[in-house]
Amino acid sequence: MLAQASPWHAHALQRTAAGIAEPLSVPARMEWTTRPGQGPGAEILGPDLRGKRVLELGCGAGHNAAHLATFPQALGSAQAGETPIGTHVTGVDLIGLQVRRARSHYGRLNNLTFVAGHALQFLRASDEQFDAIYSVFGAVGLVAPELLLPAIARHLTPGRVLAFSVPHPQRGGRAPSGGDGPRRDFVSLPDGTRLPIARWEFTTDRWERHLGRAGFRLTSAQEFHDSRLGHWPTTLLIRARRI
Ligand SMILES: C[S@@+](CC[C@H](N)C(=O)[O-])C[C@H]1O[C@@H](n2cnc3c(N)ncnc32)[C@H](O)[C@@H]1O
Repeated sequence: MLAQASPWHAHALQRTAAGIAEPLSVPARMEWTTRPGQGPGAEILGPDLRGKRVLELGCGAGHNAAHLATFPQALGSAQAGETPIGTHVTGVDLIGLQVRRARSHYGRLNNLTFVAGHALQFLRASDEQFDAIYSVFGAVGLVAPELLLPAIARHLTPGRVLAFSVPHPQRGGRAPSGGDGPRRDFVSLPDGTRLPIARWEFTTDRWERHLGRAGFRLTSAQEFHDSRLGHWPTTLLIRARRI
């Protein structure tokens, strides 16, 4: 019920209405930013994810999860004649409709599981350990970091990577947030409607402090621009290691 009242439900409904949920070919790249084709791909999650377990929080229609579960680049270098060992990817999304979309697009693939649920509830209920956890404009930044980051830490093997991209806190000329609380932001729907949401909009320094408290060491922060959206940075991509 709560999920259906969420702006993310309206977002999923309009996305579903805009395009038929049919089987899709798997994207050749993992996308972290607002502009397809720019920035790193799956390699920032670790050099070799073959046979590893990876979790996406807020997977939407599942494009990145499908890439990770499939693509040879993501699977390291299999020797000639060797059967590639897949990466096991779990994609979690708050909205059942998104999970249905993801399954219609990529449900045929091995090694790929889509689960409907709140990221925090999923982590609290699961006893699985993962070798990489990531979010692309997904649950990280949409759930209170003081709750979500420790929950992620409990499921990530020490030494492994958490990576997430969030809308850049200075996009469109905004001033960076001065506190630890969320700010009002909007989900823009395909029909132009804007629905209010809460978003944690931290600078890199503030993310570093929150990550440190939860048991992570920040290893990189990259910002990306998108010329279609003006000269301000649009995406902040953070990578951290579980201590
Ligand atoms: C902007 S979309 C990004 C989807 C996908 N990662 C992509 O890059 O296309 C944000 C997604 O996060 C999901 N989401 C929002 N809050 C969430 C939460 N608390 N737990 C899990 N998923 C959440 C939404 O339903 C939506 O599918």
